[in-house]
Amino acid sequence: MKILVIGSGGREHALAWKLKSSPRTPELFIAPGNPGTATLGTNVPVKADDIDGLLRFALEQAIDLTVVGPEVPLTLGIVDAFKERGLRCWGPSKAAAKLEGSKVEMKEFLRRHNIPTAAFKVFNKPAEAHAYIDEAGGPLVVKSDGLAAGKGVTVAKDAAEAHDAVERIMVKHEFGKAAGAQVVIEEVLRGEEVSVFALCDGHNAVLLDYAQDHKQVNDGDEGPNTGGMGAFSPVPGLLKPRDEDELVRRIVVPTMSGLVKEGRPYVGVLFLGLMITDGGPKVIEYNVRFGDPECQTLLMRLDSDLLDLLEACIDGTLESRSCDWHRDIAVCVTMASGGYPGSYASDLPITGIEAAERLGATVFHAGTRTDKQGRLVTAGGRVLSVCARAPSLAEARRIAYAGCDAISFTGKHLRRDIGERAKARKGGR
Ligand code: AMP
Ligand code: GLY
Repeated sequence: MKILVIGSGGREHALAWKLKSSPRTPELFIAPGNPGTATLGTNVPVKADDIDGLLRFALEQAIDLTVVGPEVPLTLGIVDAFKERGLRCWGPSKAAAKLEGSKVEMKEFLRRHNIPTAAFKVFNKPAEAHAYIDEAGGPLVVKSDGLAAGKGVTVAKDAAEAHDAVERIMVKHEFGKAAGAQVVIEEVLRGEEVSVFALCDGHNAVLLDYAQDHKQVNDGDEGPNTGGMGAFSPVPGLLKPRDEDELVRRIVVPTMSGLVKEGRPYVGVLFLGLMITDGGPKVIEYNVRFGDPECQTLLMRLDSDLLDLLEACIDGTLESRSCDWHRDIAVCVTMASGGYPGSYASDLPITGIEAAERLGATVFHAGTRTDKQGRLVTAGGRVLSVCARAPSLAEARRIAYAGCDAISFTGKHLRRDIGERAKARKGGR
């Protein structure tokens, strides 16, 4: 069986790693992949947003299953394009992927289906957004409408910061002109965030274990938001039984049935970014893909065959499935380039990955490449995902951080407190 994995991050390295372990021994191709995925299969030099190029490759190679990692090809309609040519492609259609493509559409979907979320307003003129901020006062959350790699959101502590965010999004177009045409301004939700993933086959959903991300760049949740600086799974004790009931009844079921009613049933993995508030779970956002680095921690713990599960999504046979999870705790620490999420240097030699693996860590590549001299060098903001699985959180953290300490590149930056917040909670190990 031939599988094509699309993407080049730590998430895609982890997907390829887990698929490779399937008893069905698939042959893997990864487009464009990274030096980590090259050890598991064949990297294909086609970019993740080149839908025509990917389609050509999949037809030529008679790929049996394509697994899409990032959101961009999904929002460009890769699943529809592949399906039209008779190819099996795992992920939501272009119409369903719109949940992530536009924050305005996402919020309007939530409102239409009465799904709990932060109260919000949409503006397409900066003057009106400013007038609303003056009237409402801070704190407020200001979001650019379009995809902005997780960076288009400002949680403004006061009106001045909210005004500034509107200027950056709508006037300076810091996230591009299209993304800045509209802003969503919403109430600040208080509570703890959790990442919930549901495998979906159009009608049925199987919830995966919970994971928690660490979005801010520095320890103690300080500094700007990033794509994710580290994660752990499971997350015991955060959702009370009443929250879990509401999650299914008020969020997952209405989301699935809402999409069916709108003629765009959801296939793939639905990522619910939730805030667990005193009033129950509320949706902060939908994503139409796995989270990175949450995916790495989940796949480190998934005992079931991922390939079977992904095929059950496409075949509409999830109802009879469940996922088996290893009891151990998985921790993933992002090693980033100094300066990320702002500007950073690239092409810096990386050493010590094998040493980290000898210490028990599993290292997934993200922003790395092999240079002309054959050296592994940095090539992105998030460079590596250093993961570990162990019976206790303390042991998983110890191994992951020993791995990080064994790895060197100039300016390496990581958070030292990944998973610490789980320690305090009842039910933690
Ligand atoms: P988003 O891209 O919508 O997921 O937002 C990025 C991050 O901003 C989230 O993970 C939260 O940490 C924060 N955030 C977004 N919306 C809210 C909100 N209404 N209240 C509090 N924090 C928020
Ligand atoms: N780690 C959060 C995300 O992938 O969006």
